[in-house]
Amino acid sequence: MAHPVESNAQKPKRLSPQEKRFQEKFTSLELFVRVIAHDLNGPLTGMNLTLQQARKLVKSPLALKSLDTLEHDLNLATNLLEELKSLNRRETFRPTLLDIGTEVQLIVEQIHNLSASPLTVAFTQCREKLVVAGDVSRLRRAWQNIIRNAVEMAQGKKSEEPVLFQVNVKKSGRFARISFHDNAGGVARQRLPRLFEPFYTTKGSKNRGLGLFIARKIVLEHHGKIRIVSARPSTWVTIDLPLVK
Ligand SMILES: Nc1ncnc2c1ncn2[C@@H]1O[C@H](COP(=O)(O)OP(=O)(O)OP(=O)(O)O)[C@@H](O)[C@H]1O
Ligand SMILES: [Mg+2]
Repeated sequence: MAHPVESNAQKPKRLSPQEKRFQEKFTSLELFVRVIAHDLNGPLTGMNLTLQQARKLVKSPLALKSLDTLEHDLNLATNLLEELKSLNRRETFRPTLLDIGTEVQLIVEQIHNLSASPLTVAFTQCREKLVVAGDVSRLRRAWQNIIRNAVEMAQGKKSEEPVLFQVNVKKSGRFARISFHDNAGGVARQRLPRLFEPFYTTKGSKNRGLGLFIARKIVLEHHGKIRIVSARPSTWVTIDLPLVK
């Protein structure tokens, strides 16, 4: 008896359980984000203004110290709001022409300047200018999320051995390739397929499991690719962004 031949081209694409889980989470997340981002904007702006007024009225050093703490916490909340907004598909995307080498170098210098950085950073790049059309603030968020993961892994390490963080920018065909390598511990093989899922974290309640999800979203908006490979204790995160011809 002849068996029917399935043609993938004519059938709508069946989602794997993993893709399905990803999509469901993403849809509910988007709705949640839209409501939260909208509702948080007002009170946060109000609190920032009140804080500035309070600074003018308060004289006592102790009270001023409390205001510093308040400002620090408010900044954390404002950053979280920005992060949530960057999840929102409707946010405007503002691409400009960027030399990727220069951009990545700026971030590398920031890690160098961090006081008590747990990473020893090495940066290499090709001589050629690699120009991409990118939204600079979003791309910075993507690299920062990747770097923060390496920092957090390094901070959580039991051994005293220094953690090497290598950043490399080079040309790969029609793409600018940025790769980040750390040797802070690596990722267990069974966890790898879940790393880009929203809310997937192995760090407990102090983290939200959004860093890589956001990085991936930003890279896809730029028509790029992102992947993670790991062979313990190493992790490589590679981003390819299309070059402007
Ligand atoms: N460089 C790395 N080395 C080892 N594990 C990593 C690395 N980067 C990411 N991971 C793993 O991937 C998970 C997801 O990372 P992601 O950045 O999305 O979330 P998070 O860091 O847990 O939380 P958030 O970024 O929202 O603070 C992490 O919890 C961690 O288990
Ligand atoms: Mg993270």
